[in-house]
Amino acid sequence: MLHTPYYLIDKSKLLRNMEKIAYVREHSGAKALLALKCFATWSVFDFMADYMDGTTSSSLFEVKLGREKFGKETHAYSVAYGDDEIAEVIDNADKIIFNSISQLNRFADQASGIVRGLRLNPMVSSSSFDLADPARPFSRLGEWDVTRVEAVMDKISGFMIHNNCENSDFDLFDQMLADIETKFGSLLSRVEWVSLGGGIHFTGENYPLDKFCARLKEFSEKFGVQVYLEPGEASITQSTTLEVSVLDTLYNGKNLAIVDSSIEAHMLDLLIYRENAKVTPNTGDHEVMICGKSCLAGDVFGEFRFENEIKVGDRISIQDAAGYTMVKKNWFNGVGMPSIAIRELDGTERLVREFGFEDYVSSLS
Ligand SMILES: Cc1ncc(COP(=O)(O)O)c(C=O)c1O
Repeated sequence: MLHTPYYLIDKSKLLRNMEKIAYVREHSGAKALLALKCFATWSVFDFMADYMDGTTSSSLFEVKLGREKFGKETHAYSVAYGDDEIAEVIDNADKIIFNSISQLNRFADQASGIVRGLRLNPMVSSSSFDLADPARPFSRLGEWDVTRVEAVMDKISGFMIHNNCENSDFDLFDQMLADIETKFGSLLSRVEWVSLGGGIHFTGENYPLDKFCARLKEFSEKFGVQVYLEPGEASITQSTTLEVSVLDTLYNGKNLAIVDSSIEAHMLDLLIYRENAKVTPNTGDHEVMICGKSCLAGDVFGEFRFENEIKVGDRISIQDAAGYTMVKKNWFNGVGMPSIAIRELDGTERLVREFGFEDYVSSLS
């Protein structure tokens, strides 16, 4: 038994997503790039690379990681590049996508040796959460004025448009794509490739994959473009758990259990979006609030039901701990960093990384 806490990536669960992605690539002609902002745990990249076309990034470090550890096609995108990083970004990318016309104009010559693109913002999104809404008022994420974009068409051969957000509704995707066609159709027919970004939950249960493929194909043929998808969450959803142990139990009007992890440090995204963690099957007579060991009063994973009373030493698996989770882990309170382990297809578990006091010390100075 491995020592908790640790993130456990289950390859057989990852495989389910990978097979759906491969299906979509085959039946739609779209290429699929892993969005590293969501998941950058490179020890499973070799495995994923058999099912995907490459990676897309949000920074110099991500683009370098994609090139070095994943290989295949490497897209670079960033909200803004600095003068001190642009040369290294270009060296490590097959395509560079600028967020604004001013960044494109500034770096177009320097990037003339690789494929260049621009981010468009249709100013409509599927997000209901302001913090994650790329179409929020005054959004800095991409250009929306067709006339201004027309003036730089000679510098680019493609566009990236990311306006889906945790969208598991095919009809909504279809509707938003139609909106993009209406707003940007005159530009789309003049380029060679269009990336539709991430945020489409097409690997989820019951998603109409064939309709999705047909719609992507129709879009690609209508404008004569190579379509790209940038699945982050869809690539790794439900593949990983955070394995924790109970350190203490108490009763304060409710049953509480404190575990050797922290939502603030190890699943921060849930706290930011005010969501509970998931524990399955979440049935039984014993309701317990699972709490983290940091000093933050609200360091609570959630309240869950268990078949038996929870005791010190019990193990709990927190579900869905891959997306926007491992990339956001931090050293708050100096809480021990979860190790990373992989469950292979044959069921054996393998520890791939442990973190110690030295890692904590070296993260600061
Ligand atoms: C440009 C871009 N591409 C891809 C993604 C990945 O999105 P998701 O993990 O929801 O699929 C994001 C997420 O914010 C993004 O901003």
